[in-house]
Amino acid sequence: MAHYWILGNSDGIGLATTEALLGEGHQITGLSRSASPIAHEQYQHHQLDVASEAYVSELKRLMETEGLPDVVIYCVGMWAPCRIRKMDKESHVFQVNLTAAVQLLEIVVPPMATRESGQVLILSSVADEVFSPDNPAYASTKAGLSRYVESLALRVRKRNVFLTNMRFGFVDTKLASAPTKPFEMTRDKAAKHVLKALRKKPVRYSTPLRMLILVRLLHWWGRIRVFWN
Ligand SMILES: NC(=O)c1ccc[n+]([C@@H]2O[C@H](COP(=O)([O-])OP(=O)(O)OC[C@H]3O[C@@H](n4cnc5c(N)ncnc54)[C@H](OP(=O)(O)O)[C@@H]3O)[C@@H](O)[C@H]2O)c1
Repeated sequence: MAHYWILGNSDGIGLATTEALLGEGHQITGLSRSASPIAHEQYQHHQLDVASEAYVSELKRLMETEGLPDVVIYCVGMWAPCRIRKMDKESHVFQVNLTAAVQLLEIVVPPMATRESGQVLILSSVADEVFSPDNPAYASTKAGLSRYVESLALRVRKRNVFLTNMRFGFVDTKLASAPTKPFEMTRDKAAKHVLKALRKKPVRYSTPLRMLILVRLLHWWGRIRVFWN
């Protein structure tokens, strides 16, 4: 039985992953903005907004009281429409999707490296490849997150600390609100992929493969548009 922290698990992929890991007998501390629907003797939940001033101090306090977890999973994520006449959410998306994940890594990676054991899995997205004029903040935060996590992963592997950058295509959750969602998978299938990634510990885990071809084409279409405009 391992001790997990899962951030962003009141809903979506985080919730499905929490249920799957509880089914395997692990002990889980969840942190989310909302309350959790889970009631389980091996589960405790903290309501915490990763964009709040209390976020970093609460994580540090939790580590002092509970100790360093074996595994940390960051499932927090959001998107917000980019309205050119009222661009008031862009920096918030950066805080939630990118800065808060880096703040988490700042707190958990050094003691894991000292202990010479630990694992962190961060949910990014295959959207990290895409130029997105309609939604620049989401794609850009995922691009920054993927590059940061994979770079740091290469640095800390020799200390027996395993970081994984997990890149999904569309998953059937409240976050995925695009009008068309090619190759969408269920949240339970997504959770199975998270568990597989936790077992294999790769630097990068992307799924589904068909979606990778599509985002590569979109990537080159974006590059052509940047070049010609
Ligand atoms: N769904 C997809 O198609 C898809 C595809 C690729 C990557 N991803 C990534 O996968 C991750 C999980 O997404 P999901 O689809 O499971 O989304 P979701 O269903 O909206 O779940 C996101 C979770 O994060 C929590 N959260 C959001 N903002 C927060 C904040 N400021 N502080 C603390 N908790 C917060 C949410 O709590 P509330 O319930 O309070 O909002 C919820 O528990 C995200 O990083 C997303 O970018 C999703």
